[in-house]
Formats: sequence, structure tokens, C-alpha cells
Amino acid sequence: MKIVYADNNATTRVAPEVVDAMLPYFTEYYGNPSSMHTFGGQVAKALDTARQQVSGLIGSDPAEIVFTSCGTESDNAAIWGILRSNPRKRHIVTTRVEHPAVYNLGKYLAQSGYHVTELGVDSYGMLDLNELTDAVREDTAIVSIMHANNETGVIFPIEEIGHIVKSKGSILHTDAVQAVGKIPMNLSKSTIDLLTLSGHKLHAPKGVGALFVRKGITFTPFIVGGHQEKNRRGGHRERPFDYWSWQGM
Ligand SMILES: Cc1ncc(COP(=O)(O)O)c(C=O)c1O
Repeated sequence: MKIVYADNNATTRVAPEVVDAMLPYFTEYYGNPSSMHTFGGQVAKALDTARQQVSGLIGSDPAEIVFTSCGTESDNAAIWGILRSNPRKRHIVTTRVEHPAVYNLGKYLAQSGYHVTELGVDSYGMLDLNELTDAVREDTAIVSIMHANNETGVIFPIEEIGHIVKSKGSILHTDAVQAVGKIPMNLSKSTIDLLTLSGHKLHAPKGVGALFVRKGITFTPFIVGGHQEKNRRGGHRERPFDYWSWQGM
């Protein structure tokens, strides 16, 4: 029996050219990209190329891309990263139709003493932007609203949402896991501050994700450890780490 796979929003087959591109890094070029020696350095170069390719897909600067392990991690990193950088702001706005990676984090934050506003949707799965305008407050650290819905396929007007969020002085994160690669994006001309994407929805392997963090956004690493990803994933700092001032930008 021939199987026809029609669930590409759940996950995709890794493209043969992706497998070909990756294989040498398991067998030949397996150095640590953080190492001082050239064996690791050639892997660091490949990482730079991958960063340029991802940023090309969404129209950002390569330095604005933080590699993660998946979309779920990127969502958590975005929301925690902003909350930890703005400890006095304890309100977040999200929607009732987010993927569990955001929705359940919202529930967890509400149980942990944060104020969480969940926007509802109408019978077409659409948001009421007036409700959004009313919901964003002075103490709103972050608004997290997905771009395309994984269940209904509804696409939210993310730039319009961004204009509202900006006019109220807050920060917009969007879970664009179901949008990247399907909807053209140019984040260099966008109101989005942070954006989540996931490799396995785009013919890359599972275990690869990325978070776009706009230049100038103060962001505290979610995963604390080494200095990888320019201290934005891993890295140990007691205070919000401003990558851009550190870079003298
Ligand atoms: C909208 C959305 N956000 C986040 C995720 C989680 O991505 P990952 O499986 O890479 O953790 C998914 C996966 O189905 C999704 O559809």
C-alpha cells in the first residue's frame, strides 16, 4: 500500500538535500564550533552560513538569529527572556488559541503570580483588535500572538497587531512556526520584536529551531550555560544581558 502523507503542518520529511548538507558534520567536520582550533572553526563557519540562510528566509540581520532546539524552546525563550529583563512588568497578553508552547506557559505564569490576559476569538477564529488595544497596559512586558494557527489555519494580521502593541509601548513576540516558509516575511520592515520558527515544519530535522530577537531588544537567556549564540542561549549572567551594547552597537 502506498502511503500518502498529508500532515505537513504536524511535521515534514527531511529534504534529501538537507540530509546531504548535514552528513559531513556527523562524520568529517565534527569539531566544536566554540573551539579555538581550525577544526572547530570550520564548523563555526558552517554555522554562520546557516544563520545567514535563516535570516535570509525572514529578512532579518544574521546576528538577530538565535538557534534553539525547537519551536517550543524558542517560544519559552522569547517570553521568559523578556519577563526576566523587565522584572517590574508582570503582565502578559496572549490568546486562547495559541499552541501549548505558549498557551500552557501562560497558564504556568498565571499560577506563578504573573497577570495573564487571554484574548478570545470569534466564530471565524479571528481576534478582536479593539480587545487587544484595551488589554495592553503600562505593565505589559510582552504580547505573544501567533502568526498562523496550527489547528484552524487562520492567519492573524500580525503587522496591524504590532502597530497596536508599539503604540502602547510594549513588545511583540509571534509564534510563526506555521507561517515561516509559507508567508513571505521581511522582518527588517516589521513591527515584530521576537519571532519563533521551527525546522521540522520546513523539511529540516527535528531538534532545530530559531528565535529572531530584534536588535536593541534586551533579552535574558532562557537556557543558562556556556557562551554559545553570543550569550543568548547558554551563558551565565545575573542581569539582563544587552548583546547590542556588548557588541558596541
Ligand atoms: C504553532 C506552533 N507553535 C509551536 C510548535 C512547537 O514546535 P516544536 O515542535 O518545534 O517544538 C508547533 C508544533 O506543532 C506549532 O504548530
